[in-house]
Amino acid sequence: MRGSGALQQRGPWGGEQAGAHATPDGGGRAVHGQEQRGRPGYERPLLEVRGLEVYYPVRTAGEGWRGRWGLGGRRAWLRAVDGVSLRLAPGETLALVGESGCGKTTTARAILRLVEPSAGEIIFDGVPVHALGGRALRRLRRDMQVVFQDPYGSLDPRMTVGASIAEGMVIHRLGNRRERRRRVAELLERVGLRPEHAARYPHEFSGGQRQRIGIARALAVEPRLIVCDEAVSALDVSIQAQVLNLLADLQEERGLAYLFIAHDLAVVRHVAHRVAVMYLGRIVEEGPVERVFAQPLHPYTRALLAAIPADSPAARRLGGGAPHPWRPRGDPPSPLAPPSGCRYRTRCPIAEPACGRDPVPVVEVGQEHRAVCRKAGAEL
Ligand SMILES: Nc1ncnc2c1ncn2[C@@H]1O[C@H](COP(=O)(O)OP(=O)(O)OP(=O)(O)O)[C@@H](O)[C@H]1O
Ligand code: SF4
Ligand SMILES: [Mg+2]
Repeated sequence: MRGSGALQQRGPWGGEQAGAHATPDGGGRAVHGQEQRGRPGYERPLLEVRGLEVYYPVRTAGEGWRGRWGLGGRRAWLRAVDGVSLRLAPGETLALVGESGCGKTTTARAILRLVEPSAGEIIFDGVPVHALGGRALRRLRRDMQVVFQDPYGSLDPRMTVGASIAEGMVIHRLGNRRERRRRVAELLERVGLRPEHAARYPHEFSGGQRQRIGIARALAVEPRLIVCDEAVSALDVSIQAQVLNLLADLQEERGLAYLFIAHDLAVVRHVAHRVAVMYLGRIVEEGPVERVFAQPLHPYTRALLAAIPADSPAARRLGGGAPHPWRPRGDPPSPLAPPSGCRYRTRCPIAEPACGRDPVPVVEVGQEHRAVCRKAGAEL
């Protein structure tokens, strides 16, 4: 297993590799030492999400004593995801970042069809996921796997680790019993565990080991996309680095694409090719990670970057950690009644009256770097 300090210096996701990032149009820049142009399938995104909306029906709290007894209130729609569009190329990592409750997990769950989209399109390798059902959807689920923050929650405590890893292969009828057993052993070794661990139960492992089991389980059905929803957020920094390096190696070996959901921008800086910043159900900025970190356009991205703890290498480069003028004002508004125009205007330090008007202009700076803001790139 690699040492914890490896993340900084090494290979594909190492933060020191300026310029080694993919662009969805195959702009010819190198990823993992390969030219993206001419890579099979790159011209066509693996995943494309257009105008995705997910609204949850909720009941608001009633007034006075009725509210205290859980009575009264009215039915309303909570706009968890409100017009999200994304593209992800084969073998690429797109980070989706934003504060708690902005809709990251809901976006991922809709892509995986674990929650029904209210509107929009999800196209995976040319297939409209949003319109699939039954067997076709089951088949597609093999291509799209997920690793959660807490694999303890997704691993059945009554099943051995081997049975959990093999479960997807059984569902998708891959191999016979002996082949599955051999594959489980191979996968355990590949993620840095031992074949005999197959007979053990999840509670016998540490958090980092359980995350490796979660990754082995996702890999078992040979997916092309893995959604990592805060997959390393609960781990110690050194264990985090090991798991990130494992994910990087697997990406290089197997051409996997990752949708990497995180709130920690310092981690994103090291792992992603591109980053999409989400605020209150919408993407507010998107671009190659180097560009977004070097030249953030949206005031919310600036606030997130300035809030990176000062002791992280990314923050040292940005001079982060000190109290910063881009800090958002007040609390986030409710997704039950988002502000008109720009959703960030109630918290933005450079808001002006026109920011309340729809539509908010999309400003594009250079190739594939854009922000939804009237004053994108403006200084305080
Ligand atoms: N099943 C549900 N019913 C009603 N509202 C929901 C449901 N699931 C999520 N929400 C709401 O949708 C919004 C987006 O939630 P989501 O879990 O997608 O956010 P997130 O960005 O993943 O947050 P976190 O970083 O805390 O994981 C939140 O306001 C949340 O309260
Ligand atoms: S549109 Fe206006 S309120 Fe919104 S982020 Fe830009 S400047 Fe701030
Ligand atoms: Mg979440």
